[in-house]
Amino acid sequence: CPETLREVWTSERGSMAHETATTRWPKIVQNMVDDLEQSLGQLNSDKTEHIEEGRRIQASLRIINGEIMQDKQLHPLSSDGCPDIDSYNAQLESFGSMTWHNCPWLFSECYLYRCVQTLFARSQFWRDHDIFARQKLNAFVASHAAVQELCERYASLTEAGALTKAAAADDDDDDAARRLLFSEMTEMALWGNATDLSLLSTLGSSSSSSSSSSHNHNPDDMRALQGNAAICAGRARIVGNDARAAWAYLRSETHRGRRTERRVDVVLDNAGFELLTDLVYALYLLDCGLASAVRLHVKSMPWFVSDVTPRDIDVLLAALADPAVFPAAANPSVRALAGRLRGCYESGLVAVAEHPFWTTGFDFQALPAVAPELYRDLLDSALVVFKGDLNYRKLVRDANWPHTLPFKDAIGPLRGGMKILALRTNKADVCVGLSEETLERVENEAPGKAWVRNGRYAVISFSDGA
Ligand code: F6P
Ligand code: MG
Repeated sequence: CPETLREVWTSERGSMAHETATTRWPKIVQNMVDDLEQSLGQLNSDKTEHIEEGRRIQASLRIINGEIMQDKQLHPLSSDGCPDIDSYNAQLESFGSMTWHNCPWLFSECYLYRCVQTLFARSQFWRDHDIFARQKLNAFVASHAAVQELCERYASLTEAGALTKAAAADDDDDDAARRLLFSEMTEMALWGNATDLSLLSTLGSSSSSSSSSSHNHNPDDMRALQGNAAICAGRARIVGNDARAAWAYLRSETHRGRRTERRVDVVLDNAGFELLTDLVYALYLLDCGLASAVRLHVKSMPWFVSDVTPRDIDVLLAALADPAVFPAAANPSVRALAGRLRGCYESGLVAVAEHPFWTTGFDFQALPAVAPELYRDLLDSALVVFKGDLNYRKLVRDANWPHTLPFKDAIGPLRGGMKILALRTNKADVCVGLSEETLERVENEAPGKAWVRNGRYAVISFSDGA
């Protein structure tokens, strides 16, 4: 495979990139306009300046949407005081003149969210406004049944002593039970990624039947995507699964005499239910002694609709403790888990980290050159877990590799050093690491690229950094 294989462009007819640029982006931006309308409606009419500024932002969003739909040129971003704007504009210039329907998908989608953020960041009254906050909270509340199920499962593992047994096991113990527990927890975190709002809110399913009702996620639909039954049924749809290799690596790391300081990093994706699965995954790694600390990497601004910002962690913990907001909060297992999570968070055992690199338009193969200090830091980590579709696309440079290319070949320079575990449900055309046999099966089972696009199939990809 040539290292120079080009990233996917929105001009490629029939691609998910083209469909996103022509159909999904207009819906996403329209949802922003509608959401702002609701926020404006909640302001007292005497807040004239606040309202007028909000109207100006709304008008700018409409202009952006018009430019997307009319396939206008991308122009340099206006400065909002953050240095990343310069790198966006330098990158934009390096691509030459581009329009919305003829540009690299990965870069232009990041540019779109960054462009929206400039509108808020440059304002006086709206600079801290999260245009996706309402959607994120509503979708989490609609997930209450799966949240309760997940908390009860973790409580039953704790009561049965499965976690303490796993932590106390020594090297000679048969580790089949520990491996199965690792697979279960890893799959739980994997399928948490099925409910991102950037895809869900543009699908037009019963969970989001029109753009104006995209905030009303149907609890039954959410449960079908999130519950334990969904995890079990999903096992056959994991089209490339390196969980065994990841387990073998983690197990060898925890052998007697190996280093006892083991930090695991999780590059988070979405807020709400997926974030909860990631927090439970962090707790599991700590409880079983697979990690001595966990660091969660968040986005510093509203991003790809549902990605986690620092505030989303507080919102989630507050919701889990408040039955008035979150119906399952009164459940004892939910209460207990929420208490433990808060404890880990407040003690720093689970820490939160922000870095501007995560919201640039660069793919992750540029990490050593663009953010060398972050790269060095991640090299020190025992394991870096990358959650979700966008992080996966950034790992493999969003190039249309043959599906049978090994994951380690697709991640280029990242294959040396960093221990990577990618947990991703498939929502974009790029997907690697399949055997010929699996590829043939899924192409028959879910033809017309459905298996890479509809979020029902997934990959667990591992690179040991060797
Ligand atoms: O629209 C781009 C995209 O990466 C899709 O492929 C995907 O549906 C969505 O954004 C984000 O998914 P995730 O939250 O899993 O990164
Ligand atoms: Mg996301």
